[in-house]
Amino acid sequence: MNDLFTPYQLKDVTLKNRIAIPPMCQYMADDGLANDWHKVHYTSLARGGSGLVIVEATAVAPEGRITPHCLGIWNDEQAEQLREIAAAIKAAGAVPGIQIAHAGRKASANVPWEGDDHIPADHPDAWPTIAPSAIAFGGDLARVPSEMTIDDIKRVQNDFALAAQRALDAGFEWLELHLAHGYMGQSFFSPHSNKRTDEYGGSYENRARFSKEMIASVRKIWPDHLPLTARFGVLEYDNKDEETLNESIQLINEWKQIGLDMLSVSVGFTIPETNIPWGPAFLAPIAERVRNETQLPVSSAWGFGAPKLADQAVRNEQLDLVMIGRAHLENPNWSYQAAKELGIEQPAWVLPPPYAHWLSRYRSPTAE
Ligand SMILES: Cc1cc2nc3c(=O)[nH]c(=O)nc-3n(C[C@H](O)[C@H](O)[C@H](O)COP(=O)(O)O)c2cc1C
Repeated sequence: MNDLFTPYQLKDVTLKNRIAIPPMCQYMADDGLANDWHKVHYTSLARGGSGLVIVEATAVAPEGRITPHCLGIWNDEQAEQLREIAAAIKAAGAVPGIQIAHAGRKASANVPWEGDDHIPADHPDAWPTIAPSAIAFGGDLARVPSEMTIDDIKRVQNDFALAAQRALDAGFEWLELHLAHGYMGQSFFSPHSNKRTDEYGGSYENRARFSKEMIASVRKIWPDHLPLTARFGVLEYDNKDEETLNESIQLINEWKQIGLDMLSVSVGFTIPETNIPWGPAFLAPIAERVRNETQLPVSSAWGFGAPKLADQAVRNEQLDLVMIGRAHLENPNWSYQAAKELGIEQPAWVLPPPYAHWLSRYRSPTAE
């Protein structure tokens, strides 16, 4: 039986365990460029012992940043800075992954600790937003985006392909496409945000077209031996969940045919009013259903920070990988804590030798 510390292989990449750190925006970049903050942050997370570290949502185009301080990968200078991050993660013993993203109508917002709301359109830091339809998200993100032309659609799809090439050249070995959380990919598929009347809106086939074409173009660039994954909100918790889930599973099956290797199961976040049943591991049964009905490996996040819960999700074959986010902000060495709690022999050795040697030498370091 597999558990949280069983190695995991996907394509030619092997993770030393089933613990993954999901993308978490730092909002610390200027002009999309990674800096010392990112380097120290990702190095310390990677030294903590997880198998996979996925760098935060990194914008494929300037207008696709959530905030002015999000990372970008639309030019070579940004890719050069990211190369250092990928190398640092790898040197620390984890597999370097990156999430590439376009925020669509949720772009041009203030960083969370300055409001998390849209920057007023006439403010010098703001930029025009684009989306499948001219419909605002609502709430604090009330700015109405421009409806994308066919040229806009082709350009954004191509931006994802160019970003995939840059991510590959920078040394990343795991690519996650952000098709979740109400951003560009999710808002093309959701009837809440896509009211187009052309071939990119309306029917299931039309709403699926943007992501299918985009994944196909990325797969041509991203080598077959490296994992290509996507994060996708498979339901909204809006009282239409069975219908949405069935459509989502149909779409994931089509992505699988095009070459997707794994799905990170998440929530749509396409509308502000929902009934999300927040609670520990609440997505585990949903992820299990996606896994069973697509036969695609799955990961998920949201509330797996208690080591026993994370371990159970693997043992029960609900998840292939468990994403542990905020618990890693609290303790970058979460994997060590989990190893101790789960009774792993020699738990300190999930950490690098300069830490592990001392922590394994004394049974109780605090008692010394
Ligand atoms: C600070 C922060 C930034 C986040 N940024 C991203 C992101 O860039 N991309 C994404 O898909 N999810 C993002 N998320 C969601 C996390 O990946 C994860 O799903 C969430 O934290 C729930 O997992 P947890 O309960 O283990 O923290 C972010 C979450 C946090 C707390």
